[in-house]
Amino acid sequence: MNSRIKIAPSILSADFAQLGEQVAEATKAGADYIHIDVMDGHFVPNITIGAPVVASLRSWTHLPLDVHLMIEQPERYIPRFADSGANIITVHVEACSHLHQTIQLIKKLGMRAGVALNPASPLILLDEIMIQVDLIVIMSVEPGFGGQAFIPETLDKISRLCKILNNRELATEIEVDGGITVNNTPRITVAGANTLVLGTSIFKAKEGINQALQGIRRAVN
Ligand code: DX5
Ligand code: ZN
Repeated sequence: MNSRIKIAPSILSADFAQLGEQVAEATKAGADYIHIDVMDGHFVPNITIGAPVVASLRSWTHLPLDVHLMIEQPERYIPRFADSGANIITVHVEACSHLHQTIQLIKKLGMRAGVALNPASPLILLDEIMIQVDLIVIMSVEPGFGGQAFIPETLDKISRLCKILNNRELATEIEVDGGITVNNTPRITVAGANTLVLGTSIFKAKEGINQALQGIRRAVN
């Protein structure tokens, strides 16, 4: 069994007019990271927020800010996110022409480096780079929008990745992003996920952020 599973609420589904308060509430409720989805309208068909919002959120939480860049040429923006207080930066394999260099840039700026794989992208794309990264983000929905259904084939992909990491004796974190609910969390953690990203299930929950997060915590432990 994995060590304590981390919960990373994704602010994509938060009320942007109350972002600071909602991030503070998720922090108090026991979140481990705050997941911030950055979209450029090119790599994905949606636009969200940039580095100034990350900088504003920095004063609302002591938790690591886990910035998921769904943008083309992310290397152009990485220094700005570093300056705004990001702790983890994840880039997409599909969006980087010089992935090794981009990972080194993130690490040189003092942050943890992550690499994300879209649902259709095979694990083999990580073969040469996994030794360099701190976390691997397995997308369990097509990136771009919150509230989509979990793609079931992701479970097998997580298990296969877990085996590869174990065989290579790598402690790389496996973060799973998209379509996670209180019902499917046990299957995802059993497959080998260490960190769960949840937007809709936390920020749009009828019972509120605190209760929703407690429910997820009970489901994973
Ligand atoms: C999707 C984002 C996710 C999203 C997850 O492109 O990367 O982080 O917020 O939202 P839910 O939990 O609603 O699928
Ligand atoms: Zn994300």
